[in-house]
Amino acid sequence: MKMAARSGGALLTVGALLVLTCQSPTSTINCRHRAPGPEEVIYRVQQKSDHIWKRDAEQQLRVQIHYDPSIDHLVVVKRRLVKSKLFPQAISYLQKTFQVRRPSSSILLSRQCANNQYLKKKSDPHRYCHGACAQHTRCGPVIVPEDHLQQCMLCNNTEQYCGPSGPPDSGGIRNTDFVLYVSAITTERCSQENIVAYAAYCQLEAEMDRPIAGYANLCPSMMSTQPQEFAGMLSTVKHEIIHALGFSAGLFALYRDDNGDPLTPRYINGLPLFNDSLGVYQWSDRVVRAVTRNWDVSGFKMVQHRVYLLVTPRVTDEVRRHFNCPILEGMELENQGGMGTELKPLGEEAAGE
Ligand SMILES: *[C@@H]1O[C@H](CO)[C@@H](O)[C@H](O)[C@H]1NC(C)=O
Ligand SMILES: *[C@@H]1O[C@H](CO)[C@@H](O)[C@H](O)[C@H]1NC(C)=O
Repeated sequence: MKMAARSGGALLTVGALLVLTCQSPTSTINCRHRAPGPEEVIYRVQQKSDHIWKRDAEQQLRVQIHYDPSIDHLVVVKRRLVKSKLFPQAISYLQKTFQVRRPSSSILLSRQCANNQYLKKKSDPHRYCHGACAQHTRCGPVIVPEDHLQQCMLCNNTEQYCGPSGPPDSGGIRNTDFVLYVSAITTERCSQENIVAYAAYCQLEAEMDRPIAGYANLCPSMMSTQPQEFAGMLSTVKHEIIHALGFSAGLFALYRDDNGDPLTPRYINGLPLFNDSLGVYQWSDRVVRAVTRNWDVSGFKMVQHRVYLLVTPRVTDEVRRHFNCPILEGMELENQGGMGTELKPLGEEAAGE
C-alpha cells in the first residue's frame, strides 16, 4: 500500500504500513527506533543540483549500500548472510516500494566539525567549521569514507578567512538517492537492549529535507544464522531502514506537502522550532494531531485516552483505504512505551519486530 508521508520529497510509496504493522509471528525481535538527537544529524546539506529532472518527476528509489569494515570482521557465515542475502534482499524490496521525487544525481555528505562548532553566514548556504573539520565524520557508529565527503569548509579562529581547506570534493556517490552505511559493531545499545539491528538517518539534503544518508547497525551477538530465523531478521532490517528513510518522529516536523512546501513553519535558519522536552523538532497540527478518545474499558466505564494521529493527506487517504474506514482522521501512532517507542505507528510493537 502507499504510505505517503512525504519525507522531504520522497514519496514514501510504500508497503510501509504493512511492514510496520503486519504480524510476524516467527519474529521475537523488538523494534526500538529512536529519533536521533540533533547533534547526530546534519540538516540542510547542500547538494549540487542538476536540473535534468522535471520538477515532479518520480522514479524508483536508488540505495547504495556501503559496508563498514566491521562487517568483514564477522564470522564468515554471518558476513555472507549480511552481504549476500539480508541487505541485498531488504534493499531490493525498498527500492521497488519507494518512489523518489526530484532524485539526486549524486550525494556528497557534509563534514562534521572538530568540537562540533560550526558557523553559518547570512545568504551563504554553506556550513563552516569553526577552526577545523573533524578528523572523521560519522554516520551513527560508522566512519564515512573520505570520498563520500565534501571538501572541508572552515573559518579560521580569527574568522578572517572562511572557505575551503584541504583536498577538493570527489565526484560523490553517483546515481544514488540514499547511502546506507551497514555495520556490525557491538555498541552500548547492543548490550543494553535485546535488538538485532537499529537504524537512523544522519544527513538530510537542503531542498526537501530528504534523508540522503543513514546507517543500520547489526548487533553481532544477536544475529542468527538459523534458516528459520531469516524471515524475521529480514523483516526487522526492512523495518529499521524505513525509519532511516524518513519514518521517524524526528522528521515529522520536516514533512512537506504535495507541492514541496513545509507543513510546519520554518525559522530563518530553515528549520522549525526545536522542542527540548520532546527532543525533536516540533511539528504543526498539519502533520500530527492529538485527539482524545473515549475507551469503553469494561462495558460501562469510559476512560479518556489521548492518541496522536499522523494526519497528512496521503497518509489519511491510505489509512482509510487500508482499514476500509472512510471516517478515520489519520493514522494512529503509538503513545506509550517511553522514549523511542512513542509516536510510532500503532501495532508495530505487537508485530514483534
Ligand atoms: C586560514 O585558513 C586558510 C585555509 O586553511 C589558510 O590558508 C590561512 O593561512 C589561514 N589564515 C590564518 C590567519 O590562520
Ligand atoms: C513541546 O512538547 C511538549 C510535549 O508534547 C508540549 O507539551 C509543548 O507544548 C511543546 N512545546 C512547544 C513549544 O510546542
